[in-house]
Formats: sequence, C-alpha cells, structure tokens
Amino acid sequence: MKTKRSHVLGLRIAGSSPKGMYYNTGDPYRSIRVHDLDGEALVLVGGENHETGQGSTKERYERLEEFARDSFDVEEVAYRWSTQDYSTFDRVPYIGHLGPLGKNGYVATGFGGWGMTGGVAAGAILSGLLCDGEHSHSEVFSPARVNTASAKSFLTHNAEVGAHFTTDWARSLLASEEATLRPADGTVVRTDDGPVGVSRSESGELNAVSAICPHMKCVLRWNDGEESWDCPCHGSRFSPEGKVLDGPAIEDLPRRDVRER
Ligand code: FES
Repeated sequence: MKTKRSHVLGLRIAGSSPKGMYYNTGDPYRSIRVHDLDGEALVLVGGENHETGQGSTKERYERLEEFARDSFDVEEVAYRWSTQDYSTFDRVPYIGHLGPLGKNGYVATGFGGWGMTGGVAAGAILSGLLCDGEHSHSEVFSPARVNTASAKSFLTHNAEVGAHFTTDWARSLLASEEATLRPADGTVVRTDDGPVGVSRSESGELNAVSAICPHMKCVLRWNDGEESWDCPCHGSRFSPEGKVLDGPAIEDLPRRDVRER
C-alpha cells in the first residue's frame, strides 16, 4: 500500500465564516470547512497531501497558511493537525481473509482516507465471511485479488521505493560525522554503527536513534514540521526518541549515544 499524509490548520478569523464545505479537484488540493468548537466557529483549511517522508512538512504548513491568509482575514492559526492514510494500488480497500498464510486472520485496511464508509463495508463483509462463510462483495475487496489495473501502479511504486533505498543509503554513507542542530531540527549523521538520526527538541535536548527503518532497512528522513523520523519507503514513523508512531514497522528504533561537540 501507499501511505499519504495530509494536513489541516484550525483558524480563528475576523468576519463571517464560510457556510459550506468546499474542496477543489485540482492541484494543489485544498479543502475548507467550519467546525463548531464550543460555540466558536473554527475554520479548517486542509491540503498539502503527500507521500510520507517526501519534502519539507514545515514548508507544507507554511504554504497552507499562505493560502489561508490569502482567503481569509486570519486572526490566529490556533491548531495544526495531520493524519496518515493507507491506500491500495486500485484504490479499493483490502477486506477479507488473509489467504493461505493467514490461518484465522482477517484484515480490513487501505481505506485511502474513506474510513467512515470503508469501515462500515468492512463490518458487513467480515461479519458475512465469519458467520455465513461468504459475502456478495468479498471478491471485489479480497486482499488476495490480482488485477492488471493496479499492476502498473504497484510496479512504479516499488521502483520508487528501490530508488529511495539506494539513494538514501548512498547519501548516508557520504553524510557528515557531526551536525549543528537548531531547536526542532534533525539530521542523519554517519557513524561506525551506521546512519544515526540526531535531533534537538524545542527545549534543547538532544536525541540520537538508529536512522535505519526496522521494517525493511530504508534510511529515515527528518520531518521538520512534526519532529518525527519518517520512512519514505512504506510510511513508518517514529518519535525523536525512536518510538513507533505509524506502521508497518512494529519495533522501536534503538537509541544511540550522542555527544555535543
Ligand atoms: S522500510 Fe518499510 S516502512 Fe520503512
């Protein structure tokens, strides 16, 4: 599956709030809606969707704010929020039995941001499979399906994953052995233990963790908007201290020693 991150700002604005919910179909994608927060209208501006581990998240928030300020008389950016969604190559969720290796395992995933509807479909299909041994839609959503429509997208994505793996490892071998870090900054340095991700918190504390993703060994990248280590290959994410935030990885990153120079 591909992983996608998307971002939202919660704004306090002067003047009247938009009445409806709006989104465009072009690029860059933007959405606007209003949330009632204890009687106060909070304008939510969303967009800047991107694959995990790609580009600067800080710059994405800045672009979203620029759009918001062009569109409204913004008094305050009160909240920032992001989420991560998984989607399949033919954009139909995987719902059903895991196949020959799954024994009694069933799965429901790959909703592509449509979890409210996909979750209901999963409830109907899985309960049909478990109680009656079948469901009329199970073939369409089968995790074991193979179709030519998704094959090209699958191959392209895996070629991109291979490119990330190769170029990021090459870059890590050429990386410096030391780094100068501002608060909320992070970088990968080269050590005898392999690539190490070093970051500095807003309060100045240094953290060092292995920069190798435990899932399939891609080199992690620093997320400068949310202070996390993100994997460009399949979307795993980790806190600066190495705790898993998003899968597919299930192991934390080992801590490494860090020295101030
Ligand atoms: S290598 Fe697969 S998520 Fe990192």
